[in-house]
Amino acid sequence: MEDLYREIIIDHYKNPQYRGHLDPSDIHFEDDNPLCGDHIEITLRVDGDGKVTDGRFDGNGCAISQSSADLLIESVIGKSIEAVKQLTKQDVLDLLGIELGPVRLKCALLPLKVLKAGVYGLSEANDDLIA
Ligand code: FES
Repeated sequence: MEDLYREIIIDHYKNPQYRGHLDPSDIHFEDDNPLCGDHIEITLRVDGDGKVTDGRFDGNGCAISQSSADLLIESVIGKSIEAVKQLTKQDVLDLLGIELGPVRLKCALLPLKVLKAGVYGLSEANDDLIA
């Protein structure tokens, strides 16, 4: 089963569906993984009802961070901003479907941290967002 998830991760890394940048966008945030300097930027469009209608990510980094970003964007399109605010570390781990050590966990959660800082309208991301 883990092999299937590994394949999904590699596929999202090599063929991301949501790589890019929305201009204009309603929500924009970017940040680095302090451990490696890898970077994720997320842009979202939100309609008048507070629902995410489109999203993109950009940046550079390892397969885990980039595929996590692609899966995360896919999962939030169609959700309300309130639902996006409730996303947890476990939701990302469920999307990825594999066990991760502490360093890889930082990679996997960088997109969630960026996404949540964006939807909360923060000026700086912090680790409380991915608890
Ligand atoms: Fe940098 Fe994974 S090694 S985000």
